[in-house]
Amino acid sequence: MASTAVEPCAFALFGALGDLALRKLFPALYQLDRAGLLHAETRILALARESDEPATHLAAIGEHLQRHVPASEIDAAVMQRFMARLDYRSMDFLQAADYPALADRLGPVERLIAYFATPASVYGAICAGLAQSGLAERTRVVLEKPIGHDLGSSREVNDAVALHFPENRTYRIDHYLGKETVQNLIALRFANSLFETQWNQNHISHVEITVAEQVGIEGRWGYFDQAGQLRDMIQNHLLQLLCLIAMDPPSDLSADSIRDEKVKVLKALAPITAEQLGQQVVRGQYIAGGILGKSVPGYLEEDNANAQSDTETFVALRAEIRNWRWSGVPFYLRTGKRMPQKLSQIVIHFKEAPHYIFSPEQRPLISNRLIIRLQPDEGISLQVMTKDQGLDKGMQLRSRPLQLSFSDSHGSRIPDAYERLLLEVMKGNQNLFVRKDEIEYAWKWCDQLIAGWQRQGDSPKPYAAGTWGPMAAMALITRDGRSWYGDL
Ligand code: BG6
Repeated sequence: MASTAVEPCAFALFGALGDLALRKLFPALYQLDRAGLLHAETRILALARESDEPATHLAAIGEHLQRHVPASEIDAAVMQRFMARLDYRSMDFLQAADYPALADRLGPVERLIAYFATPASVYGAICAGLAQSGLAERTRVVLEKPIGHDLGSSREVNDAVALHFPENRTYRIDHYLGKETVQNLIALRFANSLFETQWNQNHISHVEITVAEQVGIEGRWGYFDQAGQLRDMIQNHLLQLLCLIAMDPPSDLSADSIRDEKVKVLKALAPITAEQLGQQVVRGQYIAGGILGKSVPGYLEEDNANAQSDTETFVALRAEIRNWRWSGVPFYLRTGKRMPQKLSQIVIHFKEAPHYIFSPEQRPLISNRLIIRLQPDEGISLQVMTKDQGLDKGMQLRSRPLQLSFSDSHGSRIPDAYERLLLEVMKGNQNLFVRKDEIEYAWKWCDQLIAGWQRQGDSPKPYAAGTWGPMAAMALITRDGRSWYGDL
């Protein structure tokens, strides 16, 4: 095994038979093993309520691994080694009496990582159980989102965890922070002096953040309908991206220096008042339509749907950050299910040069943009104006990209976000995890939007599956004389 393996640990996965664990967490752990990053003594204990024979569940986990790890990345010897690390134990997470037996099963562990892939309502009980069975001192806890459904409920969850675990052993996941290109944002901004001088309201006209998904609800109707796109995506992933774009340079790379700067951004987000809501925020819900030439049902026709639901599956909004750096620069955010393509990207639009010298008809063409593509085709592209080649072209301008592609650079695979995040927890590094106050400020800002919708009895606007959302989402940006970059 490679010498880069991190220190050994016992990894207890609560909710081990759930979708997240089977689709993302076990494959990520397998990939860490394949990369030689799991210590030979690291063990993984899968925990769930189901009480059949452990071998049955271990076999099911193995099958899911075969399904979710690309065939070219399955190495029989590694798979065998990985499966040998796994154990399964049935327990009721709410039963205090089940925890001493868990502690016995784990035996004398130096370091326990307890990953909660369960509803947040159970986190408090798991923390209390771990503490009462004497495990808390040696444990780092990892909390999946969503942590609560508003500020009040997120505080309850965080407080219940904090009774037993200090902040420096609490790792709150936002898997977007583990994505390779999101990491690169930090490098791009703070390892290149070139950008920092331009990174403010003097030079940037506006910023777009799009996180579009082609998928619909994928059997998660029950959870999703309680949440909606604002809670599911804006409160966490999109606001985290906004923070990384907008934050001031941290004084160092330590977790708290970075998180302090992110919190300042969240605190500076201008509230959107009830009067502004109609103009600045658009909610949508998909109706039947077509994706890649295939008909797909509307949100209300999905399996187990409540046909009366007014939960949004799309949000577009115009946010402003009230500080010196960003005053007057709109941040347009949009995210939705059943969009024409899966696409996560940030577009920074720079202002025009102060004095224009080319022919007037070319003026609308001119703009520098920095496009940061998170997925797919991870990369960064800077659009610059150049002159068309040829004797007959005169000073004919053309926008061309200076392109940096991560997906084909160095020929290496791009690790999944969860691989990086699990590795960072094992290393005890909190940079890529969200601090309690970040979550709370993000909720506070989202709560005022939800309260506004509720007061106004706002219903989501329909959009056909396979389109970029309701027409009102176009109007939101065209009203400012702009358009969403790249929409077809
Ligand atoms: C999750 C949301 O946090 O992120 C899902 O709960 C969403 O609804 C998913 O589909 C998107 O993640 P990714 O990495 O596929 O963009």
